[in-house]
Amino acid sequence: MIIAQTVAEVRAQIRQWKKEGCSIGLVPTMGYLHEGHASLAKQSVISCDKTVASVFVNPIQFGPSEDLLSYPRDFQHDCALLEEIGVDLIFHPSPEEMYAPDFCTYVEMEHLTTQLCGKSRPGHFRGVCTVVSKLFHIIQPDKAFFGEKDAQQLAVIRRMVRDLSFDIEIVGCPIVREADGLAKSSRNTYLNAEERQAALILSQSILLGKKLVEQGERNGQALINALKAHIETEPLARVDYVDVVDGITMQPIEHLQGKILVAIAVFIGKTRLIDNFSVTLS
Ligand code: PAF
Repeated sequence: MIIAQTVAEVRAQIRQWKKEGCSIGLVPTMGYLHEGHASLAKQSVISCDKTVASVFVNPIQFGPSEDLLSYPRDFQHDCALLEEIGVDLIFHPSPEEMYAPDFCTYVEMEHLTTQLCGKSRPGHFRGVCTVVSKLFHIIQPDKAFFGEKDAQQLAVIRRMVRDLSFDIEIVGCPIVREADGLAKSSRNTYLNAEERQAALILSQSILLGKKLVEQGERNGQALINALKAHIETEPLARVDYVDVVDGITMQPIEHLQGKILVAIAVFIGKTRLIDNFSVTLS
């Protein structure tokens, strides 16, 4: 497995692989990898000749009061995991390699970013779209793999690829959960034992939401109210948002119809966690 820290090294290797006729899969990550990331990498290794994983904590997608400095990092563990899966190259650039001191070009998306995480984390998707565009240009993958846990991110990337005519297939991979239901996240490591227990309120609320929809709930606000009320039964939890949106446009909907996304963000102590489910209703 090759570990490359510069754009030039990656480009040279990609050029070689393309000359040999290899298809390329990209798994963009911020490191501190867990089984959710592993499932993306495995999917890429299965479906592409060569897999590149990027490990880069992207500073421009964090707000000023967010956890950029404390974001967990363990590059050695990440390398071991990716090597075992069969990843061919890890791109691990420094912030300076990605952003020149006078960097001033960003990819900004309207509409899809006004709700959910886009609303609670202003500038977040501008940072995500910018770094993902750069990775797409540098690595020129045939396919790129993203987790469904960040459902809005997946919708935003799909739209960016369409709007900016990237010739890349975006593959969404299902949420991977702990045995007790908590969605895998690098940020779970922030939770102490009591908070880890309290964090189950997220996956329980997702189950409740699925059940209510299965039982026929079609009123968006009623569903939101039921989930908020459930989350508020947990003393350590504070709702950031509970929203029901159209699965493509990410805009709020009153009546549940077509492809919908039910998404929640909840603070457990100081840690902000997200979870969601999607369903298509006739
Ligand atoms: O999902 C993530 O880990 C990040 O947002 C991504 C896509 C790697 C961009 O920094």
